[in-house]
Amino acid sequence: MILMNDFKAEPEALRREELAALDRVLRSGWYILGEEGRTFEKEWARRCGVRRAVGTGNGMDAIEIGLRALRIGPGDEVVTTPMTAFATVLAVLRAGATPVLADVDPSTALLDPESVRRCLSPKTKAVLVVHLYGQVRRPDVWGTFCRENKIEFLEDAAQSHLAEWDGRRAGSFGAWGAFSFYPTKNLGTAGDGGALTTDREEVSALAERLRNYGQSERYHHPELGLNSRLDEIHAALLGVRLAWVERFTARRREIARAYFTGLRNPGVSLLSPPAQEKSHVHHLFVALCGERDRLAAFLKDRGVQTLVHYPVPVHRQEPCRTLRVDPKGLRNAEAHAERCLSLPCHPQMTDDQVGQVIEAVNAFR
Ligand SMILES: Cc1ncc(COP(=O)(O)O)c(C=O)c1O
Repeated sequence: MILMNDFKAEPEALRREELAALDRVLRSGWYILGEEGRTFEKEWARRCGVRRAVGTGNGMDAIEIGLRALRIGPGDEVVTTPMTAFATVLAVLRAGATPVLADVDPSTALLDPESVRRCLSPKTKAVLVVHLYGQVRRPDVWGTFCRENKIEFLEDAAQSHLAEWDGRRAGSFGAWGAFSFYPTKNLGTAGDGGALTTDREEVSALAERLRNYGQSERYHHPELGLNSRLDEIHAALLGVRLAWVERFTARRREIARAYFTGLRNPGVSLLSPPAQEKSHVHHLFVALCGERDRLAAFLKDRGVQTLVHYPVPVHRQEPCRTLRVDPKGLRNAEAHAERCLSLPCHPQMTDDQVGQVIEAVNAFR
């Protein structure tokens, strides 16, 4: 089976480096909020091109902590997309704020600025842009849009590690970027992890408190925070994997280029190719098909695993049915949810496997 992810096929050299890092942490006798975490935070901030990175327990908490660090909460609205991981919207709700859902552009599945404009209200405090599938697109437009409307531009960068636009990286365009280091992400660990990146010192300082019970100094709690820290083991593993991520991203881009060239089936279409050379890190490669479920079954029979990101847009999830949405509706997000299918696009895929996926998709009738 050609898998969506294949960690067991990772290079032995990487595994050896990870084992050495684990050994180092276990022998250090220090497991939470220590030197490994600080070193990784510094390096991640540098790689993203921002002043500060704050490690968190996962990507969802990074969003909640980021919102709370900006004092966005009860009574405030945050406009975001229904075509995302449920965690994006759940984090807004957990921060006490109210998500408002705008439609997506059908050619990219990314938030549509015109739809976002229709969702604005006097309560809107921020637009939370999700760099879905690994694509950063026109962050300059979002920056201007948010400045003009006197609201914050926030980035859910959980799927877009090191994606670039005009030489700047995901997580550096808005007030903050929230990253997930869930194992399947482009930079992932062997468990849960996340980080908030920001240029604003006051945001990073408050985020550091919030992730640690709201503690300012030992046993003093000026805030009601969370317990959401990136522990030393995951920080050490991420430090190792960070040295590999450029290579892995380059391989994802090669595979995506092969798909864009090789996939030729009148019943299957693709999203727009990357707008700039490095704007897409191909966390997921998504095809569109009117008979998506039949295509998925067909591919499975030919040894190709697929997944759907995402089959149920957020406004169709039971607890979210009452959320306010674009008055014109969310037709593009709904059509996308019915047709999208993610094909394997991970760095360990061989050229043969890429060829097999292309052949199998092209053989579908
Ligand atoms: C777009 C997006 N936002 C947020 C998250 C939440 O990240 P985590 O699973 O680390 O909480 C994910 C990961 O699933 C994601 O893909």
